Amino acid sequence: METNATDTLPGPGSTLADVEHLLAMPLQQAMMTQRAVRRVLPDPVDDAIVLRLIELAMKAPTGSNSQSWEFIVVKDREVKERLQKRYRQAWAVYGSVGRRIAAGDAKMQRMLDAVEWQIDNFADIPVLIVACLRTTPRSGHLPYVPMPHVATTSFYGSIYPSVQNLLLAARAVNLGASLITLPLWSVTSARSILGLPVTVTPACIVPIGWARGKYGPTTRRPVGDVVHVDQYGNRPWRGQDASGSVTV
Ligand SMILES: Cc1cc2nc3c(=O)[nH]c(=O)nc-3n(C[C@H](O)[C@H](O)[C@H](O)COP(=O)(O)O)c2cc1C
Repeated sequence: METNATDTLPGPGSTLADVEHLLAMPLQQAMMTQRAVRRVLPDPVDDAIVLRLIELAMKAPTGSNSQSWEFIVVKDREVKERLQKRYRQAWAVYGSVGRRIAAGDAKMQRMLDAVEWQIDNFADIPVLIVACLRTTPRSGHLPYVPMPHVATTSFYGSIYPSVQNLLLAARAVNLGASLITLPLWSVTSARSILGLPVTVTPACIVPIGWARGKYGPTTRRPVGDVVHVDQYGNRPWRGQDASGSVTV
């Protein structure tokens, strides 16, 4: 097994046997340091590791336990290039708005640089995992039929817990990963690129590769700013973290 600069982390050439023990990373450590790692190496990732990550992803809940997920593992360069084209098109709109909003904000600029790196290198990313949802009798969702709010939230809510599991598992084994949706801006095009029937809806993509960047702590708003008690707007812990410290 080759290792990267810190020589304790797995990297290109690592097998599932090399990384399996890393999946025991303490939960809090994984959650505190799981951030979008968009810059990854082009080296292949062992299929067995990819399958193991998806297997762990599937420990997540789904509405009515429908398990209506399908995961398309994209490794073919031509398919990746077609998705890259769509990503670039979406970014032409979102990126220019983002650059304007980010003016003077170095952190935001760095994030936009990382997104642009990902778009430019999209076809070199070794694995794209496209997380999809299948319409089943239990999913309460019919293609092209307007559905009540609860059906829509339950349908899309049946993929994201698994995607978060996937991100956490990738983090534990030092595989760079992020959650992206922009390449899927046209569902018709995404279905055509991936050969999906109308009963399968792509939700998001998790590009995976051995991390060039480092995992590390994320920055989030203080918990007290987003927690309301009993009624919206009643925020007794505003500006505080869970220990009661004032964070702003
Ligand atoms: C629904 C959703 C869609 C996203 N789409 C994209 C995307 O298309 N491209 C991208 O680079 N990041 C995308 N992201 C990632 C967010 O930009 C990222 O989670 C956020 O900037 C926080 O990053 P951090 O966890 O590294 O702090 C998406 C995240 C979510 C939850």
